[in-house]
Amino acid sequence: MTGMTDTSQLIPILIAPQAILKAKARAVVAADAARVRDLVPRMFAAMYKAPGIGLAAPQVGVGLRLAVVDLMPEDKPAPIVLVNPEIVARSPELATREEGCLSIPGLYADVTRPARVKVRYFDQAGVKQEVEAEGLLSACLQHEIDHLDGVLFVDHLSILKRNMIMRKLAKQQREKRDADRDER
Ligand code: NI
Repeated sequence: MTGMTDTSQLIPILIAPQAILKAKARAVVAADAARVRDLVPRMFAAMYKAPGIGLAAPQVGVGLRLAVVDLMPEDKPAPIVLVNPEIVARSPELATREEGCLSIPGLYADVTRPARVKVRYFDQAGVKQEVEAEGLLSACLQHEIDHLDGVLFVDHLSILKRNMIMRKLAKQQREKRDADRDER
């Protein structure tokens, strides 16, 4: 479960803009169990490889309310699987932190969010969990839950900043495609 999946079958991470990244994902239900079991290790593998600290199912083209997170405290794996996560409380105080996203690779911006949140979710065993998060975990959970509602970190920025980042991303992807083509 911690990046030990065969990486020759690495699941690709979608780069914005993509319709599924803007769509609201649906709740995971019992009938999704096998799919979730298959997907979770592949999502962790893709996330660790990137590397990143969080990945939501829509980022790998799956419209389910499912995300994986690992802040790697002290460089040790601490994987968290979030099934149907929900923010049930937000602090009135805000916090600003630089964010990035595996679907907007290499581009970062300061994002302001509630400083602390209480999140309810089901773990992979189907056990209901509740976490009160602050700092990096708080921002990361809010960022991943945003993904399940079709919201990217750039959507929290001014239109000007958002357009600047999306233009840079498009240029970067164009150059990457050109470089890949020249290699062939
Ligand atoms: Ni993201």
